[in-house]
Amino acid sequence: MMNMAEQILPAAEMERTGGKGEPVIRLENVYKTYDLGEIQVQALRGVSLEVMAGEFVAVMGPSGSGKSTVMNILGCLDRPTKGRYFLDGVDVSGMSKDELARIRNKKLGFVFQQFNLLSRTSALENVELPTVYAGIKPEERTRRAMESLRRVGLADRAGHHPSQLSGGQQQRVAIARGLVNQPAILLADEPTGNLDSRTSIEIMEILQTLNEEQGLTIVLVTHEPDIAQFTKRNLEFRDGKLKRDRLVEERLNAREVLKAMPTAEEEAAEDAGAAGGAGTGAG
Ligand SMILES: Nc1ncnc2c1ncn2[C@@H]1O[C@H](COP(=O)(O)OP(=O)(O)OP(=O)(O)O)[C@@H](O)[C@H]1O
Ligand SMILES: [Mg+2]
Repeated sequence: MMNMAEQILPAAEMERTGGKGEPVIRLENVYKTYDLGEIQVQALRGVSLEVMAGEFVAVMGPSGSGKSTVMNILGCLDRPTKGRYFLDGVDVSGMSKDELARIRNKKLGFVFQQFNLLSRTSALENVELPTVYAGIKPEERTRRAMESLRRVGLADRAGHHPSQLSGGQQQRVAIARGLVNQPAILLADEPTGNLDSRTSIEIMEILQTLNEEQGLTIVLVTHEPDIAQFTKRNLEFRDGKLKRDRLVEERLNAREVLKAMPTAEEEAAEDAGAAGGAGTGAG
């Protein structure tokens, strides 16, 4: 079943790239070595890859294979030891920390496994924060943050603090925060890592919608093959190298999967039925 998908076929490659020219991400033979004095850890060993605008990519691979390291480089949080990184056609591999910070603010949005929301601050203010660093005028900040919350379906929760929101809602606020400066790329490191399976699929539904309806380019790290099946392309890392690059066949549609799943209430009712020893079926 997997054999067909292991290589990118020319037609699929055309469809993936839409025939368009410049990739938004291009890594050329990138190495990353962490120098710990006594030992050196080669976290990336010659990685080359391209991501075109509008792609939705899952980065996979075992623990320690270099996923977060490559995401940190893509996110301009770190620089390659060797090799080059072109972001939106611009070589950023030799840039200073300040230049990288500026590019990061303008072009990139981030979502993490830990939602990293400020707890004493409303959802709206959390989402507004990156616009402050980007130097946007105050009245424009609020408008943008509200618009961003609307995109993740949380406009009606703008005044809630993180503790008044579910885990899935908190992650949606974090996604809204990642989108508020209108980035070219959204980078997400294990965004569903702390969520139950239904909530994870709800997050994937939002990401699929942003990708398909608004053309947002997304790169996400996941350990879970089920989650990767919602994306369009899977990159598999092993020992700091890109081992496999394949298009997802029989891609899952999160909205459809959710429709077929029991709701939280149905599950609770079923559990209650089972606990009560009612073996005759609830329907
Ligand atoms: N700051 C650092 N200093 C030294 N070594 C590091 C550092 N960050 C990562 N490494 C090492 O680089 C290698 C790749 O780590 P990385 O965090 O990229 O793995 P990963 O694929 O994200 O793993 P996981 O699935 O556990 O998150 C590992 O051997 C790790 O120990
Ligand atoms: Mg990691």
